[in-house]
Amino acid sequence: MKKSKYYIDLESKYGAHNYHPLPVVLSKGKGVFVWDVEGNKYFDFLSAYSAVNQGHCHPKIISALKDQSNILTLTSRAFYNNTLGEYEKYITNFFGYDKLLPMNTGVEGGETANKLARKWGYEKKNIPKNKARIIFAKGNFWGRTLAAISSSDDPTSYEGFGPYMPGYDLIPYNDLDALEHELKDPNVAAFMVEPIQGEAGVVVPDDGYLSGVRELCNKYNVLFIADEVQTGIARTGKMLATDYENARPDILILGKALSGGVFPVSAVLADDSIMMCIKPGEHGSTYGGNPLANKVVMAALEVVKDENLCQNAYKLGKILRKELRKIETDMITTVRGKGLLNAIVIKPKNGKEAWDVCLKLRDNGLLAKPTHGDIIRFAPPLVMNESQLYECVEIIKQTVQSFS
Ligand SMILES: Cc1ncc(COP(=O)(O)O)c(C=O)c1O
Repeated sequence: MKKSKYYIDLESKYGAHNYHPLPVVLSKGKGVFVWDVEGNKYFDFLSAYSAVNQGHCHPKIISALKDQSNILTLTSRAFYNNTLGEYEKYITNFFGYDKLLPMNTGVEGGETANKLARKWGYEKKNIPKNKARIIFAKGNFWGRTLAAISSSDDPTSYEGFGPYMPGYDLIPYNDLDALEHELKDPNVAAFMVEPIQGEAGVVVPDDGYLSGVRELCNKYNVLFIADEVQTGIARTGKMLATDYENARPDILILGKALSGGVFPVSAVLADDSIMMCIKPGEHGSTYGGNPLANKVVMAALEVVKDENLCQNAYKLGKILRKELRKIETDMITTVRGKGLLNAIVIKPKNGKEAWDVCLKLRDNGLLAKPTHGDIIRFAPPLVMNESQLYECVEIIKQTVQSFS
């Protein structure tokens, strides 16, 4: 613990205290494993919030990074570069959209989608100037910018950071009646929603919700924006979580695993009728569409396809939930999820809470983190194999049963 303590103390002294990490200091990752500075090995059951779906330091992705970094890393969009067009062609074919707008972080993808929707609302839906509304679901999380927290109903996110962005309204998640009620207002430009609410604690809506959203958006000429930053790229057992219901969004936001955990790359995809509403100079980012990112994303998506990560996530997810439900304990009250995006809800026992469970999981060689006090997300890299998954289930079982 001596080495770990050194790094933890450093962060505590010199870093802002805007996170509360589990006390473990990681220094190496490979596939489904990470190692701490003392050399202990762990199963990573968080995958950097679903950014390392392809596993830590995947050789093909790292090789793309290395190769391109020796040639050209950044030109800015002031000039053309010889990788962006190819990447745009690749990703639009991959997901079936006319055009890409490349950004960096997930939250910038959300901001971009919001700007696109407003612009489309004014140009195509004739919404009066500055009257465009965007509807969100309660429990949403799409990042930490002022726009993102303006649509949040979590006081930890928004309290103390006002004033907030106007034109945003909330309805309950998984409630099509509430959605229809809002969409009747002709000033609504878009409904933005996560197909499964990740940060809210892996909240899975009813079957038919996403196709219902699609239908209502068609009916009222409102854009359906899917925030697949966490659910996308095979995490839930399909390439996109909206694929489960053929509920093709008008605007698709991707991030996190798009680059396989190498560095932040996000993407906003839409067809011409929407994307062409934005003209030169109206939006952009210095690093958006940089050659390094373009090559890394193509490699990261190839890995997802070549290694059948959708199928693997689908299969292992079923096993994981089935095995977790078999564990004899009164501490786990709920097991939920899709593919390898899962969560358990912990009922405190003898004063021990989800945080204590995560500390013990760490001691037993598996890293996970609680959210909202009582929920633990289980989202390992999608390159995990079946025997590794059973090993993890055994660790979780031993851990929770040790509290009785
Ligand atoms: C659904 C969703 N959207 C957007 C974001 C924001 O992504 P980033 O942290 O890369 O800005 C997150 C982050 O957790 C997320 O889960």
